[in-house]
Amino acid sequence: MFDHLPRATLATLPTPLEAADRGSADGPRLWIKRDDLTGLGGGGNKARKLEFLCGEALAAQAKALVTVGAAQSNHCRMTAAAGSRLGLEVHLVLSGDAPVRAPTGNQLLSTMFGAQMHYTGAAESHWGELEIAREALTDELAEEGLAPGSIPIGGSTATGAVGYALAFVELIEQCAASGFVPRAVAVTSSSGGTHAGLLAGRAALIATGRLDAATAPDVVAIGVAKGVNLGHPDVAALADDALALMQVDATVDPEDVEVDTRWLGDDYAEPTVAGAAAIDWAARRGGWLMDPTYSGKGFSGMLGQIDEGRWTADDDVVFIHTGGWPALFA
Ligand SMILES: Cc1ncc(COP(=O)(O)O)c(C=O)c1O
Repeated sequence: MFDHLPRATLATLPTPLEAADRGSADGPRLWIKRDDLTGLGGGGNKARKLEFLCGEALAAQAKALVTVGAAQSNHCRMTAAAGSRLGLEVHLVLSGDAPVRAPTGNQLLSTMFGAQMHYTGAAESHWGELEIAREALTDELAEEGLAPGSIPIGGSTATGAVGYALAFVELIEQCAASGFVPRAVAVTSSSGGTHAGLLAGRAALIATGRLDAATAPDVVAIGVAKGVNLGHPDVAALADDALALMQVDATVDPEDVEVDTRWLGDDYAEPTVAGAAAIDWAARRGGWLMDPTYSGKGFSGMLGQIDEGRWTADDDVVFIHTGGWPALFA
C-alpha cells in the first residue's frame, strides 16, 4: 500500500505505545501512542506526513520547500527541520508579525533550522489569506528555478494523509502484539489530514481483510480549529484521495467522520480550563508534555468522553499524542 510512493526517511518509527492510568475508576484501559516522539526537529505528527510530502517534492527535483501556518506552527517547525535534513531551502509563511524580541517556541526552533520566515500580519485563523501568500511565494521561487515543493496548511493533502494511514497500520499491529483491538483511537484535529489518514488506514485494513468492519476502532477526532470543525465532508474526501494514492479500492463512509467540536473553547490557540487540566493530568501521570493549542485540548476531549461514560472498563482506547511541546515555551 505504501512502497510504491516516494518517501523520505525523516521519522523514527515505530513510535512507542505506552499504557496510561485509566481516566476514571470504571473507565477504559487507556494507551498513549507517542507520536510526539517521531524524532524529527523535536517530534510530532507532521514528521509522518512530511516523509511522503518531501518524498514527492524530491521526486519532482525540488530545491526548496514552502509551507504555511500559524505563528507558533509545529508543522512549520518540522518542515524547517525536514528541509535542513534533506538540504532544501525552507520558506515559512506565517500569521502575525515578526516578533519584536527574540523568537520563542516553534519560531525559535524554525529559525535555528535555518528557515526563512515570512510574516504576513494575517490573523491566526485566516487560513485563506495565508494560502494566497504561500501561492504567491511559490510562484516567485519557481521563477528563481527552485521548483519548490509547496505544502498547504498542516500538510493536509492526500499525500500527507498517507503518512497517517501508515500510522494506523503501525498502531493496529502494536495493539495486536499486546493482545487487543482498540475500541477507539482519539486524535487532535486541526487541518484534518491526520484524521483523514487514520480513516484511510482503517478503511484499507478493512478492505484487505486485516480488520473486521464490525469491531474496527472508531476514529474520534477532537477539533481544535474552526477549519476542521466546519469541514467534515472534506475529511472523507481527503481520506478517499489518500486511499487512491495507496491503490486501495475502498472509500470512507462520511458517517464514520466524527469530529467532537466541544473542546475548542473560544477559538484556535485560545487556552481552555479543560485543556489546562488535561495538560496537568498528562504531565503528572505519565511525564507526557502536552500543549494548550493542540494535544492538551485534544486530550481534554478524550478525558471528557471517558467522564461521559462513552467506553467501559473492558474497552481499550488509544490517544495519539501528536506533540506540540515547543509552544509551552512561547
Ligand atoms: C501538535 C499537533 N497536534 C495535532 C495537529 C493536528 O493535525 P492536523 O492538522 O493534521 O489535523 C497539529 C497540526 O498542526 C499539531 O501541530
